[in-house]
Amino acid sequence: MATVLVASNRGPVSYKLDEAGSLDARRGGGGLVSGLSAVSSQDSLWVCAALGAGDREAVRRGVGEPGVRMLDIDPDTYTDAYNGIANSVLWFLHHHLYDVPREPVFDAEFRRLWESYRSYNRAFAEALAAEADEGAAVLVQDYHLALVPGQLRELRPDLRIAHFTHTPWASPEYLRMVPDDIREELLRGMLGADQLGFHTEEWAAAFRNCAGDGAAGTRVEVYPLGVDAEELRALAHRPVVDERLAGLRAEVGDRKTIVRVDRTELSKNILRGLLAYRELLTTHPEWRDRVVHLASAYPSRQDLESYRAYTASVAALADEINAEFGTPDWKPVLVSVKDDFPRSLAAYRLADVALVNPVRDGMNLVAKEIPVVSEAGCALVLSTGAGAYDELKEDALTVNPFDVSETAEALHRALSMPPPERADRSKRLAAAATALPPQRWFLNQLEALRA
Ligand code: G6P
Repeated sequence: MATVLVASNRGPVSYKLDEAGSLDARRGGGGLVSGLSAVSSQDSLWVCAALGAGDREAVRRGVGEPGVRMLDIDPDTYTDAYNGIANSVLWFLHHHLYDVPREPVFDAEFRRLWESYRSYNRAFAEALAAEADEGAAVLVQDYHLALVPGQLRELRPDLRIAHFTHTPWASPEYLRMVPDDIREELLRGMLGADQLGFHTEEWAAAFRNCAGDGAAGTRVEVYPLGVDAEELRALAHRPVVDERLAGLRAEVGDRKTIVRVDRTELSKNILRGLLAYRELLTTHPEWRDRVVHLASAYPSRQDLESYRAYTASVAALADEINAEFGTPDWKPVLVSVKDDFPRSLAAYRLADVALVNPVRDGMNLVAKEIPVVSEAGCALVLSTGAGAYDELKEDALTVNPFDVSETAEALHRALSMPPPERADRSKRLAAAATALPPQRWFLNQLEALRA
């Protein structure tokens, strides 16, 4: 039994089954992992889903970490809920990603998938209800588990329930595409919580506007997640990162760098970022052979056709740019498609310019991490669509994510920024980025929930 419970689709650990049949555990990082470390692991429990075959095998063998409970949900139900609803419907709604002449289509198949989403949420609600002490605090994470607060409230009215949304929230007009009964179920699920958290006032306001009077009994609050400077700098100075840095330095030479790091994710706007870089090399030819664009775009959600197609388009456009401008000793874009965190940290250290141009993004921690880690201080080109825009806009060069020409000009300004100005801005960006580090972010929510 636990007094503090966290629930999320993706947990802090994952298992891989190797050829010999033994299980390899991999610990993940991220804000929630650092956040939860603020409370004693004896009283806390993290409930998450078994994501793949390795995780399921671990559950069957009873292998696990203290303080973590993985739910082995029926694989078909899980796939329908995760791919079919969470990532193909709710993610698209909150990020305004639909190609509206074609999508969304709410038909009988959608209703079937929604049924799975409901049972997947119920599996979490039941596990939480079984594990929570009387009056315990439960902090549910993200759009995967939007129905859990309402379901859990029915099972255990004694609990304090919070939900945090790490994505944006859809505007009311966008959410109105969803059939009335489903939209109401979604909002009712969320409003089962005592407290709802968002990264920015804009997303919180979008939720309030969608919920209308329904939100009266629930506090809707803003907790903008930041980074832990000390922890991040320590990670960025491990020998494995030094090694990657030496490799990158050899490739880049004495050229300047424009760095971006993202999942290959539709909302990250990687294609328009590349188009802006191409326009920069065209309208400001003086940068040819004097800059390298380090673009780390590691694979994500490749079960979805739209993500596979997007990943292919990113690679194709990078190839085009290299073919158009490259020379025997200069490759304008270096794309890395491996999920290589040490390499990303090495790129952060090397960054002269950071490019963060999502169309719509809950927070975007990369925008906060690069200024903290960059060695000479970096100029940040930041889209108005990132949650981080709110806190970083004063010292970033801000752009409309759809305006490729404006982004190209901002890249030019960023590359041309005098070093003292760049260092000053970067220092202020780093200060803003670390205002609410993960442990504080977590404890503030927990304290508010218990108050
Ligand atoms: C976003 C979501 C997280 C999710 C992450 C990675 O940041 O807010 O909940 O875990 O993307 O996506 P994945 O589908 O790989 O878990």
